This record gives sequence, C-alpha cells and structure tokens, in this order.
Amino acid sequence: MEPAAETVRLFFALWPDSALQAKLALWARQAAGRGRAMRQENIHLTLAFLGTTDAALVPDLIELATAVRFAPIRFPLDRVAYWKHNRIIWCGASEEPPVLSALVSELRARLDSGGIVYDRKPFVSHVTLVRNAAGLPAAPAWIPLVWEAADFVLVSSSRVEGRVSYHLLQRFAAAAPG
Ligand code: 2AM
Repeated sequence: MEPAAETVRLFFALWPDSALQAKLALWARQAAGRGRAMRQENIHLTLAFLGTTDAALVPDLIELATAVRFAPIRFPLDRVAYWKHNRIIWCGASEEPPVLSALVSELRARLDSGGIVYDRKPFVSHVTLVRNAAGLPAAPAWIPLVWEAADFVLVSSSRVEGRVSYHLLQRFAAAAPG
C-alpha cells in the first residue's frame, strides 16, 4: 500500500501589514456584538482558496505564483457588511477594485495551467472581521481605510486546540510600476 501523502491546507491571500491589521482588528471588535472577532494576526483577504493539498505540490505552487506579474495594488476598504449565509461580518471595497480582480484572474489562470485544484466560486473580495455574527450591529461611522499591497502570500492553515493559525509560506512581490 502506498504511504498516505502528507497534506497541507493552503490559500493565497493579501496579508495586511501590522498597522492595517491593527485598524481592522479594531473594526472587528467594534462590530462583533455576540460574534467572534477575528484575531488581529489572522486578518487577511483570500485571493484563491486551495484547501487540502498534497504538500509535495508546494514548490510548484511557489513557481507558478512567482510567474504572476502585477503592479502594486491600492484600494479602499470603505464598506462593512453582513452575510447571512455564513454569518460573517466583513469589510471590503464598495466597488470591486479592478487591480484586485486582475491579480486574481492572473493567479487563477496560472493555477489552471498547473492543473491545481482550487475553489472556483466567483471572486468577491472581502476581509472577514467577525464570525458567528447575528447581524451588523449599530456601529460608529467607518472612516474608510486604504490598503496598499506590494505583495501577496501563500499561506497554510492549521488548527491547534481549536484555534486556527496561519503560516506565511512565501511572499510574491509586485513588479515596480513603470
Ligand atoms: P472566509 O473568511 O470568507 O471564510 C481561510 O479559510 C480563508 O479562505 C478564509 O479567508 C476563507 O474565507 C477563505 N475561503 C475561501 N473559500 C473557502 C472555502 N471553500 N472553504 C474555507 N475557506 C475558504
């Protein structure tokens, strides 16, 4: 019998710097109500979700993602909203930022060319702030934030004693503009 392949749970994401993460964590606490605010260090925006993946594919994924060409990204986080279907409070841009859609299309095209399996649901950019929320509580007016990203990351997730933790495996830098 073949030994079981070692697997990892993976996704590609934009990872806020710690200053932005701190501001988003504050939003999360303000919006939480009886829900569970995301821990500051876990706050991110998923670009492509691979889920359980053979660990031997990680070097291929790094090679594919390294080939993704994109310019530094800048977009507003000017909307806080609630999704009933998965009970999350999230924030994002009121209009899908074209730079972000372009990065996701390019990344997904590379994954397709490498025969990599990922969640193909249409991309709707969002940063989860609160889980198990019952709705959007009355909250102070949100002063829009701006996210400037010069890279994206490959992340693995693990669950230790019920707590999810994320590990940044690799960063992929934007090309300098011009
Ligand atoms: P969410 O915040 O909306 O739940 C790690 O699980 C990250 O991948 C989360 O940001 C999660 O989004 C996202 N994700 C996207 N598709 C997923 C899926 N099919 N299952 C679990 N997480 C998914």
